[in-house]
Amino acid sequence: MAKDQEYHKKERFYRQAKKEGYRARSAYKLFDIQKKYNIFKRAFYILDIGCAPGSWLQVIKKFAEENLGKYNDQYYYRDHFKIMGIDIVNTSPIENVHIVKADVTKPEIQAELDVFFHSKLDLIVSDVSIKKIGNNFTDHIRQLALCYKIMDLVKRNLKFKGSLVIKMFQGSDFNKFYQEIKPIFRIVKAYKPITSTKKSNEIYIIGLQKKN
Ligand SMILES: C[S@@+](CC[C@H](N)C(=O)[O-])C[C@H]1O[C@@H](n2cnc3c(N)ncnc32)[C@H](O)[C@@H]1O
Repeated sequence: MAKDQEYHKKERFYRQAKKEGYRARSAYKLFDIQKKYNIFKRAFYILDIGCAPGSWLQVIKKFAEENLGKYNDQYYYRDHFKIMGIDIVNTSPIENVHIVKADVTKPEIQAELDVFFHSKLDLIVSDVSIKKIGNNFTDHIRQLALCYKIMDLVKRNLKFKGSLVIKMFQGSDFNKFYQEIKPIFRIVKAYKPITSTKKSNEIYIIGLQKKN
């Protein structure tokens, strides 16, 4: 029965994504995170790590476009947005989105960011996932190593008061990683989106209001 429910949940979001023109059902994970934490508030410069096939980029572009009209006031505001997606595999183009085919752990990425943004970022999201081999412990540790590298990039490039979403896998070292992220932001939460299946041990860490 539980298996059936999981199947129907997957199928429902798959159909919804098809109908609404999103490239993958994972789009609804980001919508869910936005609904709960309002990560797109005043976000104009945004980086999506592990962006292929591009459904998060589609969601990001939607909110960035809305923000241009929504936040035109005396507080932090930009009259344009910049969105970059990075992935080791191809992502089909999206208008007004800069896509870089590269490994995010490579040192050249910093130059790519500097040239494109010329500034620190409002929001960084990472849905990066290592290629799982099926051993939960090994997968957890490999994902963790990748997430630490991404955190180096986050620390350097996310602006004061900026926000982060990063995917991790639950496991023995999750809490340690979570505790290390905690001092970087004023608010840190761990969240499993409703669209995520029970079988999956993925969990997202949300960091709001970077401290400096
Ligand atoms: C779950 S998918 C992302 C789905 C995407 N958020 C979407 O909604 O379309 C995870 C992605 O992480 C990418 N990835 C894994 N390791 C990476 C690395 N070192 N650098 C860049 N991308 C990586 C994979 O190629 C894969 O496309």
